[in-house]
Amino acid sequence: MKMKFPLLRLLMLFSAALFTGCGPARSLEATADNSAVTAPVAQTTPAVVEVKPQLDVPYVPTHQMIVDEMLKMGEVKGGDVLYDLGSGDGRIPITAAQRFGTRGVGIDINPERIREANENAQKANMANRVRFTEADLFTSDFSEATVITLYLLPSVNLRLRPRLLELKPGTRIVSHNYDMGDWEPEKTKTITTPDDVEHFVYFWRVPEKSN
Ligand SMILES: C[S@@+](CC[C@H](N)C(=O)[O-])C[C@H]1O[C@@H](n2cnc3c(N)ncnc32)[C@H](O)[C@@H]1O
Repeated sequence: MKMKFPLLRLLMLFSAALFTGCGPARSLEATADNSAVTAPVAQTTPAVVEVKPQLDVPYVPTHQMIVDEMLKMGEVKGGDVLYDLGSGDGRIPITAAQRFGTRGVGIDINPERIREANENAQKANMANRVRFTEADLFTSDFSEATVITLYLLPSVNLRLRPRLLELKPGTRIVSHNYDMGDWEPEKTKTITTPDDVEHFVYFWRVPEKSN
């Protein structure tokens, strides 16, 4: 009777170790939770951890009719360097490059969007005029831009506003649907798309520094 209990315990420990080592890969969270209470176990397969980007704005593409209007209101022309902050599938920089020969840069935090944008640039034969960077728009340098396009959210526009006001005087900014609080736009336009949705386009020019 005395020998049975340690043997049973040993068998249980052995099968538990086998189960932990050979089971399906666990998420990063699960690994972190367990690390405090279990001894490290040799991994036979690498853990697959999917890290989702932290979006400040969900992906909703701008209707092509609105893209055309944004470029028109932004007075976009050949020599411009256009930055789309939160560039989605790349349609704004790609359209500007096709229509005006503009050099374009798209910044998006979601690698899936960057993949799509690069594919679209290839398909449109514009890969030599546009580039797409996977990055957070809040930590990116867009100081070389002559035109900035946005389709973000009111709160995100407001967070971005001090950075926009630091850009070269005369830099043009065009925003789909959302304004900049008490920074009055130079132009505003309302457009209804064929699906009967009303859109707004706002235009600002970075003013000369006041000091
Ligand atoms: C409303 S969509 C606009 C897409 C495109 N500009 C257009 O008008 O078709 C917003 C985009 O911003 C991206 N985004 C959200 N948060 C971001 C961040 N912090 N930095 C860069 N991109 C971001 C999303 O992945 C999404 O593609």
